[in-house]
Amino acid sequence: MAVYLVTGAAGFIGANYVHRLLEWEPSDAEVIAVDYLGFAGNHANLAPVSERIVFEKADIADLETMRAIYRRYRPDFVVNFAAESHNDRAILEPSAFMRSNALGAQVMAECSRRVPVRSHVHVSTIEVYGELAPGNEWFTEGSALNAKTPYSAAKAAGDQIVRAYMRTYPDLNIRMTHCANNYGPYQLPEKLIPLAVTNLLRGRKVPVYGDGSHSRDWLHVADHCAAVHRVLHADLEPIPARAATEPELLPIFDISARCEVGNLDMASRVITMLDLDPSEWIEHIPDRPNHDRRYLISPEKIESELGWRPVHDFDAGMAETVAWYVEHREWWEQIIEERGELGFDWAGVRAAGSAP
Ligand SMILES: NC(=O)c1ccc[n+]([C@@H]2O[C@H](COP(=O)([O-])OP(=O)(O)OC[C@H]3O[C@@H](n4cnc5c(N)ncnc54)[C@H](O)[C@@H]3O)[C@@H](O)[C@H]2O)c1
Repeated sequence: MAVYLVTGAAGFIGANYVHRLLEWEPSDAEVIAVDYLGFAGNHANLAPVSERIVFEKADIADLETMRAIYRRYRPDFVVNFAAESHNDRAILEPSAFMRSNALGAQVMAECSRRVPVRSHVHVSTIEVYGELAPGNEWFTEGSALNAKTPYSAAKAAGDQIVRAYMRTYPDLNIRMTHCANNYGPYQLPEKLIPLAVTNLLRGRKVPVYGDGSHSRDWLHVADHCAAVHRVLHADLEPIPARAATEPELLPIFDISARCEVGNLDMASRVITMLDLDPSEWIEHIPDRPNHDRRYLISPEKIESELGWRPVHDFDAGMAETVAWYVEHREWWEQIIEERGELGFDWAGVRAAGSAP
């Protein structure tokens, strides 16, 4: 029996990972799910597996609490998904993002140093590389970190800390992933796809920032979870000395299905899937400040070194995702009831005088 400590387990990707882990290793995984149930944390995401896991409500940035959890459960494997992840909220409340995404990353690495584990994956994001310049093909593990927003800057700070731990404590066995944008079940209806479906099902239009020409690199959440699991269990060579100046030689893996879709196109797809006419159901709203225009990341390293490939076809994965939100109305109605409407209105924020 291997003990898995999964943080951010009540969020979108963490919950999907816990569900899958129990499918992949039905009798071999003891799962300790950690989450502090912040704005995006939703205990209901773990309801289907609640009898099979231990849940610990805890803040990953609290060293003493996390050390006690490590000592109590002695994890073999650690996956740190916990982060404050919503770009709009980061503009209004950056401090919480710095605590979870930077200090939290350090505390988790430090706990794995003091109470050694077999391997530890720090989950990061394509957004630490910043915005892809026109004419550039994609980011790779060797690209410079160039975060632009409070969310991505906090994640990039976490990345730098984890890189320092990789280089300073080579026996630690800490790895890192950067993933493209995920779609799939259990995503908070603040993000484009679930926001679009839940609005349309209530007769509301789909808000699209600015002209909608921003584009994202999309991957099914199940493919992301499989990639993280593969990185966690990979038998990697020791870090070479050359990694001091060549970050692509560190145990860092970029994850993507090479699937670039514009935001306007994405909104139109969801509307069409619900048999509605995009020309009637899109509402262009003021853009968020400092909005990254474009991301695309190359999965060449994880494909060639670890043999990972995405298995979800984009059209089929999107149809399945939209159907999930249609079929799980109670799940998202509960969220909206507890938190209020989740779409962001930057014109309203500015008018209220609380804009940055
Ligand atoms: N969603 C994406 O498209 C995407 C893409 C690439 C990478 N990522 C990364 O994957 C991870 C998970 O993202 P997500 O979309 O599931 O986010 P999410 O916001 O849905 O979930 C994050 C979870 O972490 C918890 N959390 C935050 N700070 C915490 C703390 N200090 N202690 C304990 N729990 C804490 C929250 O309560 C929440 O349940 C993040 O690290 C994010 O940067 C996300």
